[in-house]
Amino acid sequence: MKVTSYGHSCFLVEVKGKKLLFDPYISPNPLAKDIDINTIEADYILISHAHEDHIADVEPIAHRTGAMLISNFEIINWYKAKGIDNAHPMNVGGSAGFDFGLVSYVQAVHSSSFPDGSYGGIAGGFIIESSEGSFYFAGDTGLTTNMQLITEFKNMAFAFLPIGGDFTMNTEAAIMASDFINCKTIIGMHYDTFDLIKIDKEEAVEQFSSVQKELILFDIGKTLNL
Ligand code: NI
Ligand code: MN
Repeated sequence: MKVTSYGHSCFLVEVKGKKLLFDPYISPNPLAKDIDINTIEADYILISHAHEDHIADVEPIAHRTGAMLISNFEIINWYKAKGIDNAHPMNVGGSAGFDFGLVSYVQAVHSSSFPDGSYGGIAGGFIIESSEGSFYFAGDTGLTTNMQLITEFKNMAFAFLPIGGDFTMNTEAAIMASDFINCKTIIGMHYDTFDLIKIDKEEAVEQFSSVQKELILFDIGKTLNL
């Protein structure tokens, strides 16, 4: 699987030849100023919850690419009302099959409201299972023992976990989460974008390596094969 970072919690993962774009928040992010959203290709856009820093660029990218939105029922309805019909609603505990593999929507311990204050359903994350490998995208979440259930999904190649603290888990909690999900390769997200979530990146990487785990912190715009 090929993973590209677009900053904050926005990543593109290529699975089985399909491009899955998670939580597009690029154009308002000064750290991602070198990314042109008009160059991003996507077959699917997966939205973990309705907060602005996860949805800012959903509409322009969805309109241009025709990508299918995958999210919770309330978020999908919100976009359908805006004229985006290529969209698949889910809810917590549900799974659905797509041409690249199986998607499960799992609960995050977080809130979910749109910038206009309307209800954005239950905040979630995604587990993607495919014949090329499986991974977990946690969205914004606090640490929860619910994550222990995710070890039921075997061969998890890597997991995206928030590490910035304040609104989500910090590095220490993310290390515990990586135990809960039994995954040693963690891609850090949701850090440095705002003052409240600035971290010492070197220290975070060291904390993971001291427990024989890898924390990958992407340069924005970079692609890795994982
Ligand atoms: Ni959030
Ligand atoms: Mn967020």
